[in-house]
Amino acid sequence: MTHVNPYYVNLKDSFLFYETKMQATAFEAAHPERRLLRLGIGDVTLPLAPVVIEALHRAVEEQAHWETFQGYMPELGKEFMKEAAAANYARRGVRIDPEEVFVCYGIGDDLGSIGGLFDRENRVGVVEPAYPAYVDTNIMAGREIIPISGTEENGFLPLPYPGLEAELVYLCSPNNPTGAAYSKAQLQKWVDWANEQGAVLIFDAAYEAFITDPEVPHSIYELPGAKNCAIELFSLSKSAGFTGTRLGYTVVPKALIREGKSLQAMWVRNRSTCTNGVSYLLQRAGEAALTEEGLRQSRASLGVYRKNAEILTSALDSRGIRYFGGQNAPYIWLRCPGQMDSWTFFSYLMEKAGVVGTPGVGFGACGEGWFRFSCFSTPEDTAEAAKRLLEVL
Ligand code: MLT
Repeated sequence: MTHVNPYYVNLKDSFLFYETKMQATAFEAAHPERRLLRLGIGDVTLPLAPVVIEALHRAVEEQAHWETFQGYMPELGKEFMKEAAAANYARRGVRIDPEEVFVCYGIGDDLGSIGGLFDRENRVGVVEPAYPAYVDTNIMAGREIIPISGTEENGFLPLPYPGLEAELVYLCSPNNPTGAAYSKAQLQKWVDWANEQGAVLIFDAAYEAFITDPEVPHSIYELPGAKNCAIELFSLSKSAGFTGTRLGYTVVPKALIREGKSLQAMWVRNRSTCTNGVSYLLQRAGEAALTEEGLRQSRASLGVYRKNAEILTSALDSRGIRYFGGQNAPYIWLRCPGQMDSWTFFSYLMEKAGVVGTPGVGFGACGEGWFRFSCFSTPEDTAEAAKRLLEVL
């Protein structure tokens, strides 16, 4: 008899965004006359930058001719894409060796596999509310989860505390879902704690492109000591509209050593065994997105999403609803009105206003009573959603 993974019984029945999508789909089937406005999953709505589209066309053309045709890609990423990533860090004064960059299809994929570097016995601290895959991937691996709770009192930016026992800690800043962002001084506390403890930080930088505050670091490697303790995950999904195109990279610094082993070398071993590389076409698209011109063109879309945030926050302001985020981040994290719990507010909003958001409790127990709006919808749908919110709140 085959033995199945015994840890799956410890997972919630379904993944948060799968559950909200099922509920919204069931609602639409029952009410075909209603049009739902989607402010739930953070899926972008604006097209790719023209330089990215041109790079994709060029790469497709190259695949049509034997002189330029590309077969398997290097498992760790094509050199031009690794160099584009390193150059992106250099713009912020951070020196990353292209050998420390591992190109992937996006953070979701590497979140699922990065745990392969670590023993099951490690305890996993998760700064919550958090993207639920940090927790679920570690539950699947049988690891103990230590929630590190964000609250209204700590501004949803918890810091290491005496007695915190964890060997791995997941952080996301600017945070999904709360939009709260650690300052350099705050993030330095996590770096110092990890170096003192010999812990490893897994830092999710998916939302760095939304930062406007100069005190907020775009990369954990802006902080002294971070290369000795942190792995950084980066994605073009939100910064350059790649949710349906897919491209990201993971940085594992050579200076990250635990138990005498180089995690960078272990990740080379892992990737060269477990992947056949990322599509040439997408790496050319990613390279184009990270040029000065690509970044400039993507900023226009980011401006539209920022405007969406303003529209939604001004509706909340006019109803006196407490919220975090909307600045430095494409998410707004609001207190459910009338003491409603997160799922009750989810149903209330869908039924009364035809607006779909994400229940805060899905991001961890400390998210109960909170709710998340994504600012990635179209400006038209966002304006309509704000109007409907004003009617029902
Ligand atoms: C979210 O809505 O939290 C994100 O879009 C999920 C993701 O990046 O996979």
